[in-house]
Amino acid sequence: MGSYAPYSQFHVGAALLSADGRVFTGANVENASLGLTMCAERVALGAAISAGVRSIVAIAVAGEGPSGIMPCGACRQALAEFSRSAIVVRCHPDGSHDTTSLAELNPAPYIGAVLETAGT
Ligand code: THU
Repeated sequence: MGSYAPYSQFHVGAALLSADGRVFTGANVENASLGLTMCAERVALGAAISAGVRSIVAIAVAGEGPSGIMPCGACRQALAEFSRSAIVVRCHPDGSHDTTSLAELNPAPYIGAVLETAGT
């Protein structure tokens, strides 16, 4: 397992905890068409959703940047589809970590009309 990052050389890993207690991992997958790059968070999310998960509790992200990784806007939006309040653990290269939440990082996600009316 590992990231595919030949263009940026920036390797990122993510581990997602689902509400039913399972852990799914992902790594960033780059592409020669750079905009097609998938972040580690969305790769882990895809693995979880493919396995039937519909609610996530936490996601940990690790990268080699000096101050760790801050999930990008696209990943914040993708994660918000399955949790508004998931814990986000940012793991730093020196072994330390800090904790924030999706609610803090993405307080106002786009919610499609289908979701808005779900259950009504
Ligand atoms: N990247 C992630 O995998 N997650 C993030 O939260 C930020 C950025 C990846 C995308 C790309 O492969 C590399 O880091 C450099 O931006």
